[in-house]
Amino acid sequence: MKRVDDFRLKFGKMEFVPIVIGGMGVDISTAELALEAARLGGIGHISDAMVTDVSDRRFDTKFVKNKLRLYRHNIHNADKTIIKFDLGALAEATRRHVESAMGAKRGDGLIFVNCMEKLTMNAPRETLQVRMASALQAGIDGITLSAGLHLGSFGLLEDHPRFRDAKLGIIVSSLRALQLFLRKNARLNRLPDYVVVEGPLAGGHLGFGTDWAQYDLASIVAEVVRYLKAEQLLIPVIAAGGIFTGGDAVSFLENGSAAVQVATRFTVSNECGLPDKVKQEYFRASEEDIIVNTISPTGYPMRMLRNTPAIGAGIRPNCEAYGYLLDGNGGCAYITAYNREIGLHPAAKVVSVMDKTCLCTHMRNFNCWTCGQTTYRLKDTTRRLVDGSYQMLSAEHIFKDYQFSVDQTVELPEPAK
Ligand SMILES: Cc1cc2nc3c(=O)[nH]c(=O)nc-3n(C[C@H](O)[C@H](O)[C@H](O)COP(=O)(O)O)c2cc1C
Repeated sequence: MKRVDDFRLKFGKMEFVPIVIGGMGVDISTAELALEAARLGGIGHISDAMVTDVSDRRFDTKFVKNKLRLYRHNIHNADKTIIKFDLGALAEATRRHVESAMGAKRGDGLIFVNCMEKLTMNAPRETLQVRMASALQAGIDGITLSAGLHLGSFGLLEDHPRFRDAKLGIIVSSLRALQLFLRKNARLNRLPDYVVVEGPLAGGHLGFGTDWAQYDLASIVAEVVRYLKAEQLLIPVIAAGGIFTGGDAVSFLENGSAAVQVATRFTVSNECGLPDKVKQEYFRASEEDIIVNTISPTGYPMRMLRNTPAIGAGIRPNCEAYGYLLDGNGGCAYITAYNREIGLHPAAKVVSVMDKTCLCTHMRNFNCWTCGQTTYRLKDTTRRLVDGSYQMLSAEHIFKDYQFSVDQTVELPEPAK
């Protein structure tokens, strides 16, 4: 019977345990979590979502405070077009975040950064270029482009000295998206080093419509693998979304995937950035508690726990401090929804906004409990403690469970002392 450890992910002559821990913003996939994956010979992701805030929390910088000071006068103005990111500050925050992770790296694995392109930051091209270039400058091993894949993103790095040496990958949810990307980038003569195919059971934003349940990861992966083979394109395919056990992973590895990307199992690890209280919510969740809705202002469906505090919370948009989702014209679907409710209830002290959420603030405060579809199975991966709570796991334990388990078995952790 095969196990994940019988396979290797190959980039040229380099070989890795074929387990990638997916990027989870904002700072849910911490550097500590990514470092464990690298130490154990796999690949970990940090995320650059809201990196100025992450830097402030981790390195005691004042990027958010400084931005707020600059734009405080605009707080009650519905028009957010003047709010711009200081590109120097963005570069500096990225540098700190990446250098700190890379400086602590041990072992033979790699650390990539997850860049969500939907973080349009009121200047999509300029900010994305700075984010990617600074990450490369600071020594990141690779960049995974996700959520809102722009077809021109590789082109933004064309003149960077590390454009051809760093690993660059993309996340797609269909063969069509991959084909479009390859076609648009043909002139660069630089293929992605890997393609993550993310199916409908993943956490975070989904690359599907509200009909996500009609799709199936194994079929999409098979289609992509067949296409790449027919075109003689040697791009490793990494399957993601709903791969819960070592046995699940093996079935993808036996059917043409070069690796698997996993995340949900690690949300209840000690190294994950979610507060312990939220990790317990993930453990407690039942299948009915896991929903997909359209409250994210990005326009993509998002999966989360039903009791997520972000749902319905009508807080004032905080773009003067954050503003990561402002499109190129200073707009955000939450600002529109919030102003509509304020207009309808002018005397109300607090309004409720049901159709959209202030994703920046809620993700920053860990109040948007995004999760994968298999979250309800997490309770089966650990032990119950005497106080009724669930025992947290080490990332090493989860990683090795994926790597060495057979079939659908899941190794429980040693009882807590
Ligand atoms: C809590 C959570 C947050 C996530 N955030 C992001 C993100 O910021 N960017 C991204 O590209 N994918 C994100 N994802 C998707 C994961 O990186 C990964 O591809 C996917 O969840 C793998 O499926 P699994 O969770 O079923 O193992 C997130 C997933 C989870 C569970």
